[in-house]
Amino acid sequence: NTNQYQEALRPQFHFSPKRGWTNDPNGMVYFNGEYHLFFQHNPYGRNWGNMTWGHAVSKDLIHWTELDDALHPDQGGPVFSGGAVVDKENTSGLGENGKPAMVLFHTGARGWGQYMSWSTDGRSFHNYGKAVVPRINKDNRDPKVIWHAPTRKWIMVLWVERGNNEQHSMQFLTSPDLKNWTPASITYGGTGNDRYLFECPEFYELPVQGLNGVKKWVLTGANTQYAIGSFDGIRFTEEERKLQNQYGRDFYAPQTFSDEPTGRRIEMGWWRTNTAKDHMPFNQSMSLPLEHKLVKTPGGIRLTRMPVKEVDQLRARVYNPGNKIIRESSANPLKDIRIELAEIRMELMPGNAREIRLDVRGVPVIYDVARQQLVVDGVTAPVPLQNGKLSLLVYADRTGLEIFASKGLVFMPININIDRNNQSLSLSVKGGQVQVPELKVYELKSIWE
Ligand code: FRU
Repeated sequence: NTNQYQEALRPQFHFSPKRGWTNDPNGMVYFNGEYHLFFQHNPYGRNWGNMTWGHAVSKDLIHWTELDDALHPDQGGPVFSGGAVVDKENTSGLGENGKPAMVLFHTGARGWGQYMSWSTDGRSFHNYGKAVVPRINKDNRDPKVIWHAPTRKWIMVLWVERGNNEQHSMQFLTSPDLKNWTPASITYGGTGNDRYLFECPEFYELPVQGLNGVKKWVLTGANTQYAIGSFDGIRFTEEERKLQNQYGRDFYAPQTFSDEPTGRRIEMGWWRTNTAKDHMPFNQSMSLPLEHKLVKTPGGIRLTRMPVKEVDQLRARVYNPGNKIIRESSANPLKDIRIELAEIRMELMPGNAREIRLDVRGVPVIYDVARQQLVVDGVTAPVPLQNGKLSLLVYADRTGLEIFASKGLVFMPININIDRNNQSLSLSVKGGQVQVPELKVYELKSIWE
């Protein structure tokens, strides 16, 4: 129905529910030929409350069909965040007629136990009933479950607050069958405001690009700060901690897809919007789907995030302004473009310039060459030049910009309602001349068309 999703503040290429509030993505899993995205949903209102798991499916990670809510508040209380897996070997016995079950885990916000549900058709959901992991301590929530092939065990990572001093930790548990769980180890994640492992754990292993045979584990909390290390099926050993890739605004609680068929590690996060106004029937959104990679940098092994290649199918038209050198006195190379939904790709060699400024429909994206910093709407991110080059990729939707610098070493989502009447772009420099080996602008289609 093309009349839906056309509201003035509705993101046009980011998922948001038809009606009501959403926050964290939940239970992201590929099952029976579809990507399943569950999400914290308030079916009854535009603000947080009545937590329920909303449900949407996609074949391409881009176009989503929202289905009926999957998990409703019950005897366990409101349905808080958690994860999902496909039980391919039927370790739980919940599969039916040789078909595996998709098994979902969430926190019941009444007694703070961890609950299990399942589905064999991806449409109807059954509750297992009792909590499979009772409350451990104080605040504990957001179970993330993965299969650990070397030990042939399921691993659950759960955020747990301990002690009297707000000590944050990730509790690891193991299980042979998804039903019976044994505590295995604890990774501490800071105290009070110094915390970095807080809520919504994510945990996975990836090969390091360019290092043959080297794989590392990544452990993340809701604010996306992460640790890199190794894991033996019981204990996570941190090698570097409190690393940061995301310097944006209001990107929170991301999760990655389990059982992704191409073996990619693909994430979506809660990307806050300023939409609780102007008669909008929905509130909040998900980010673009982002592929994680580990790369070797002079500073150590680091995470990169870049939009998945499926996003390219949104391109409707390309502008190739192709100005090779821009000086203070140059005319705006983007002056002929009128655009709403945009993807802007550029590579720049700032040379002796002081500042580079890209104006995206009224939102200045400024690179301070001396400080090697990107500044957008009061948010600053360190973006070191790589061999004298700056690479930037910017997506503009109605509710803000998602900016990727240095091929994904820096991710800067900036939520800001963009004036729909402003459809102009400009690129200018101060204090020198800038070479521009690449400059391309794509007009994007709405995913709701
Ligand atoms: C993170 C969070 C989770 C919790 C959920 C409730 O945004 O606070 O820890 O499960 O939201 O909606």
